[in-house]
Amino acid sequence: MIEVQHLTKRYGPFTAVDDVSFRVQKGEILGFLGPNGAGKTTTMRVLTGYMPATDGTATVAGFDVFANPVEAKRRIGYLPETPPLYPDMTVREYLTFVAKLKLPKTVSKSERTERIDSAMRKTHVDDMANRHCSRLSKGYKQRVGLAQALLHDPEVLILDEPTAGLDPKQIIETRDLIRGLAGNHTIVLSTHILPEVSQTCNRVVIINKGRVVAVDTPDNLTRQLKGSATLYVQVDASGADAAAALATVPGVRGVSPFDRDDQDGHLGFEITAETDRDVRRDVARVIVDKGWGLLELRPLRMSLEDIFLQLTTDESAKAEETPDAPEASAAVDATNGEVPNA
Ligand SMILES: Nc1ncnc2c1ncn2[C@@H]1O[C@H](COP(=O)(O)OP(=O)(O)OP(=O)(O)O)[C@@H](O)[C@H]1O
Ligand SMILES: [Mg+2]
Repeated sequence: MIEVQHLTKRYGPFTAVDDVSFRVQKGEILGFLGPNGAGKTTTMRVLTGYMPATDGTATVAGFDVFANPVEAKRRIGYLPETPPLYPDMTVREYLTFVAKLKLPKTVSKSERTERIDSAMRKTHVDDMANRHCSRLSKGYKQRVGLAQALLHDPEVLILDEPTAGLDPKQIIETRDLIRGLAGNHTIVLSTHILPEVSQTCNRVVIINKGRVVAVDTPDNLTRQLKGSATLYVQVDASGADAAAALATVPGVRGVSPFDRDDQDGHLGFEITAETDRDVRRDVARVIVDKGWGLLELRPLRMSLEDIFLQLTTDESAKAEETPDAPEASAAVDATNGEVPNA
């Protein structure tokens, strides 16, 4: 449904998106994860046809977004980073305005009203229908932005941080809404909230400094870097050299202290074993033979958070802040996502 190949975007000499490729199957929710300045918004702007790419191709629902932008945009609902509202219009006036732009001429006035009402209900903005956009709170602006993205019931939704600025109840409702839309819709969303990715997305693209550093399911990502080959064991072995004893277990490659509770004399270790070798029984036997207490024994998995940090901070810790890149052109600014995609 979405295919991005070798996409590169430069702002003057600065490369914001560097040879990015990924695909999204129909009905899938893809999460775009990356630290500030990673290139998420830039990729989404290119994907929605708001900005030309420097290199590479992107197709949405079979239409090349550069060669056939009108057809591609017709199939895309886009929630930009800054919701594209007109301050002087009320919520209903604004959504009516967008609906007139986006809905085919064949849609009758009553059906148009029905679609607007439905989008307002889904995003819980009906109580603000007659409020001026300029007077809306941040969270409501975000919801109206989401409502305009849904109006024409597009096949593809590109949502740049859809839950930013929402209160906890709205975050849950918006996640449910997004999950409910999947299947019939193909969704790409960006977020900083890691649990959101595991709860909402089928697959994750982790992007750092414009480059894709990982693409996989949230489950595979957490397994991949540290799988069943790593164990956590906690023993009650005060005074003993438990690490040395555990290291003698066949198949164990390394034992390192994990945590230590000096009050109780409980010792925690991380054990790395040969891949595909289950050393749990032997580890338990050694501990019991020594007469120690076995308090805990479980496979260690990295949380998505650990993986994200591992993949994105190694480099960024060393690197200084992204250098200020010159504004590419006035045209880029004019398409800052401030206009609805007609
Ligand atoms: N119009 C522009 N001109 C020059 N540089 C830009 C422009 N827009 C973005 N950049 C730079 O491109 C890089 C990627 O920015 P982008 O907005 O895509 O990041 P992001 O992943 O969306 O970050 P965030 O999580 O903060 O929203 C940043 O270094 C940014 O400073
Ligand atoms: Mg962004």
